[in-house]
Amino acid sequence: MNAWLKLQHLGLTEGGTRIIDDASLSFAARRTVVLGPNGAGKSTLLRLIHGLLRPSAGELRWQRAMTQAMVFQRPVMLRTTALANVIYGLGLKGHAAKECEQRGRQALARVGLESLARRPARLLSGGEQQRVALARAWALEPELLILDEPTASLDPASSREVERIIGDIAASGARILMTTHNLGQARRIAEQIVFIDRGCIVEQTPVEQFFTMPRTEAAQRFLKDEIP
Ligand SMILES: Nc1ncnc2c1ncn2[C@@H]1O[C@H](COP(=O)(O)OP(=O)(O)OP(=O)(O)O)[C@@H](O)[C@H]1O
Ligand SMILES: [Mg+2]
Repeated sequence: MNAWLKLQHLGLTEGGTRIIDDASLSFAARRTVVLGPNGAGKSTLLRLIHGLLRPSAGELRWQRAMTQAMVFQRPVMLRTTALANVIYGLGLKGHAAKECEQRGRQALARVGLESLARRPARLLSGGEQQRVALARAWALEPELLILDEPTASLDPASSREVERIIGDIAASGARILMTTHNLGQARRIAEQIVFIDRGCIVEQTPVEQFFTMPRTEAAQRFLKDEIP
């Protein structure tokens, strides 16, 4: 499989602390889930890949330029309607107002929120806001969608709904790179698991193998702690 992204000796140091340490990794799978304990560096790795942080060592090698969108644990809504939140990024990309509106409405419909288009986004529930965030990302038709614990603040039903939407976005052609502490969710979504611990890439393993026969002791310990 052809890697669409290679990390080569990627590092990030902040205030003398190494947060990401010499990470070398090839991304070839279409759906990758990054797992690891709290503070392992998962969010930092995703932010480096999305270009929100600049590496202090090494480099990211993209096979080709790729349009990206990122969704966070707590959605950041502009102080306007749900629809305007979805449209905003499209407008920035220079699409005509009419096309923006049409694509925005379509994206909201895909996440089941068409009827809330004119509601102030910040008054929506957490689960609804997360779906608006997904619609906003989806409307950009990204080739790569990065999600950092997109369901961590949601109840089980909203979580499953967001998971379904992520599946639909993947089916529409986007590559998925995400983190979660929900191992069931990781298993349902991922093709590949990247396991990181204390800033180091510990292993990259096909999903079923990771959950049945993780290669490293660190991953075995992680799974044993998490599964009762
Ligand atoms: N700007 C910064 N300056 C100093 N330390 C930082 C900075 N950003 C993150 N860290 C530290 O780097 C480590 C990794 O943080 P990160 O948020 O990437 O972890 P994580 O794997 O996403 O954890 P969680 O599962 O809790 O979300 C943590 O110890 C964090 O405190
Ligand atoms: Mg995190």
